[in-house]
Amino acid sequence: MSDFISSFWSYYIAVIALGGIVWCVYLLFSQRAWLKRDVKAVESTGHVWDGDLTELNNPVPRWWTVMYLLLCVFALGYLVLYPGLGSNPGTLGFTAGKQVLQEQAALNERIQPVYERFREMSIPDIAQDAQARDIGQRLFLNNCAQCHGSDAKGSRGFPNLTDNDWLWGGSPEQIQATITQGRHGVMPPWGAMIKPEEASAIAQYVRSFSGLAHDPLRVNAGKRGFDTYCVACHGAEGKGNPLVGAPNLTDGVWLYGSSEATIVETILNGRDNQMPAQETHLTPEQIRLLTGWVWGQSNR
Ligand code: HEC
Ligand code: HEC
Repeated sequence: MSDFISSFWSYYIAVIALGGIVWCVYLLFSQRAWLKRDVKAVESTGHVWDGDLTELNNPVPRWWTVMYLLLCVFALGYLVLYPGLGSNPGTLGFTAGKQVLQEQAALNERIQPVYERFREMSIPDIAQDAQARDIGQRLFLNNCAQCHGSDAKGSRGFPNLTDNDWLWGGSPEQIQATITQGRHGVMPPWGAMIKPEEASAIAQYVRSFSGLAHDPLRVNAGKRGFDTYCVACHGAEGKGNPLVGAPNLTDGVWLYGSSEATIVETILNGRDNQMPAQETHLTPEQIRLLTGWVWGQSNR
C-alpha cells in the first residue's frame, strides 16, 4: 500500500534514487585514469606547503574505484529486490510490517511451552497462581495500562477494573469476551427529544438513586422522563444492563461523574466509548492469563 496521494512523488523518489547511481557511475567513468595500467608522470597541482609538501593529483586507487562500482551494482540489486523506488514494492515483497508479524509469530511459538501449564487451569485458579499473575500483570502493563491505568483503577471514561462493578459483566466468561472481542458502549443522545430543563429534572431523579443531594420537588417530573426514555437500557430501578453495557446508576460508581451538569451532558449529547478488541494482537493464551489477572483484582 502506498502512502502517496499522487503517483508524482513515487516517480520523483525513483528518479532521484536511480539518478544518484547513474551520477556515481558517470563520475567514476570520467575519472577513469586508473584504467591506464601504469600512470607514469604524476601531475602536481602546484600547491606547496611548508616549503616541501607538494600536493599531487594522483588518480584514485584502483581498488577503491572497483569497490565503488560494486557498491553501485549492489544498490541496483537492492532496488530490484526491496522497496526503494518510490512505491515499487520490490520483487521480494518485503515490508517492515510483515517482518514484525513474522517475528511475533516466532516469539509466540517460542513462549508456547510457558503457557502450556495454564491450558487446563480454570480462570479462578489462574488468578491464584503466582507465575500466571506475574505474566498477567506484565501483559496488562504493556497492553492495557495506557487506558485503564497501571493500577487498573481507570479514570474518566475508562472503567475501574478492580471495584467489582461491571458495565459488561464480571464473570470470567464475560471478562474474557470483553477482552477478546472488545466492547462498544453507546448511550444515544437525547438532545432532540428532551429539553435541557427536563434533562435537569431527570438528573435530579438519577442522583436520588445513590443518595446524592437532589431537588425533591423535581424528582417526580424526572421520574416520568426516566420511565419514558431510560428504562429500556438502565432498567426501571436504574440498575443497568450488562447486555448493552448500560451502567448501574444506583451504586455510586461513575464512569463520567455524578454532578448534575455531567449527567445532563450525558443525556443531551450521549456517550460513545470503545474498548478495543485484543484478539487482533494477543493470543488466546495471553487473553486467558489477562482474564485471570483482571478477575483476580476484584475476587481475592
Ligand atoms: C484504548 C483504550 C483501552 C485499552 C488499550 C484497553 N481498554 Fe479496556 N476498556 C476501554 C474502555 C473505554 C472501556 C469501556 C467501554 C464502555 O464504556 O462500554 C473498557 C472496558 C473494559 C472492560 C469491561 C469493564 C466493565 O466494567 O465491564 C474490561 C474487563 C477491560 N476493558 C479490560 C481491558 C484489558 C484486560 C485490556 C488490555 C488487554 C484493555 N481493557 C485495554 C478502553 C481500553
Ligand atoms: C440505548 C440504551 C440506553 C438508553 C435508552 C439510555 N442509556 Fe444511559 N447509558 C447507556 C450506555 C450503554 C451507557 C454507557 C456509555 C459508555 O460506556 O460510555 C450509558 C451511560 C449513562 C450515564 C453515565 C453513567 C456514569 O457512570 O457516568 C448516565 C448518567 C446515563 N446513561 C443516564 C441515562 C438517562 C438519564 C437516560 C434516559 C434519558 C439514558 N441514560 C438512556 C445506554 C442507554
